[in-house]
Amino acid sequence: MKIFRLKEDLKSYLHTQNDEKIVSFVPTMGALHNGHMTLISKAKQNSDLVVCSIFVNPTQFNNSEDLEKYPRTIDEDLAALNDLNCDIVYLPEVSDLYYENEKAKQFHFNGLDKFMEGRGRKGHFNGVATVVEKLFRIVNPNIAYFGQKDIQQLQIIKHITKQLDLDIEIIGVPTKREESGLAMSSRNKRLSESDLEKATLIYKTLLFIKENAPKYSVKELKEISIKKFQRHVELDLEYLEIVSLENLQPIEEYNEKGHNVACVAISISSVRLIDNIIF
Ligand code: PAJ
Repeated sequence: MKIFRLKEDLKSYLHTQNDEKIVSFVPTMGALHNGHMTLISKAKQNSDLVVCSIFVNPTQFNNSEDLEKYPRTIDEDLAALNDLNCDIVYLPEVSDLYYENEKAKQFHFNGLDKFMEGRGRKGHFNGVATVVEKLFRIVNPNIAYFGQKDIQQLQIIKHITKQLDLDIEIIGVPTKREESGLAMSSRNKRLSESDLEKATLIYKTLLFIKENAPKYSVKELKEISIKKFQRHVELDLEYLEIVSLENLQPIEEYNEKGHNVACVAISISSVRLIDNIIF
């Protein structure tokens, strides 16, 4: 496994590779868990060269405390990537990607950022899009993999890839879950046993929505589901939205099967978790 810390070195190396090779890219912020690993495995199956980046991107954090608290487990991450036969890891410093005091570029997301994460975390998606565009231009992959766990991020990346006219196929990978149904996340480590148990209500409620969608109207289903969370004082529900998969706008009537998404953000003991289900 080759490790590059400088974009120029990575670019030079990639230039020496045969043009015929299919290059896959998996951008991450590290603290890798099995959810990230499914992205790497998928990339491995479908390509000749897999590039993974580990970079905690400052422009997508709303506050500096969150940025500083972000877990960094680089030795374990590299060992895990090596075990999966990842070919290349790009591990830049902030100065390799940003000039001094550079701010996020302002994008137009066509309303994809209007609700859910875009509403609660101002500027977050401009930061994500800024770094992903930079990384795409450095790695220039044929395919890039993103998790459906962050459905809004996935749809926004698909949108900007088209907008910037980049010839990269964006593939969404289904959410990897614990046996309990809880979506894997580096934040789960911060939850106690009893909080982990409480957090299982998230996926249970999402399944309830998927299973009961035809029986109730969107409005009714939303109300019933919100009540399920409100019965537990330890769960602080930030939002529960039922939106259209394509434009991420809240719906009043269901779209055809497979084009609706229920999205939830909830805090448990100050740990913020997000999850969603496509139905
Ligand atoms: P990070 O949170 O490290 O996630 C990296 C990728 O892993 C994202 O595409 C995310 O959706 C995916 N992922 C996380 N948990 C998952 C799970 N349980 N199952 C499947 N995939 C999962 O998302 C980011 O980093 C950053 O915003 C980034 C895109 C790297 C830009 O900085």
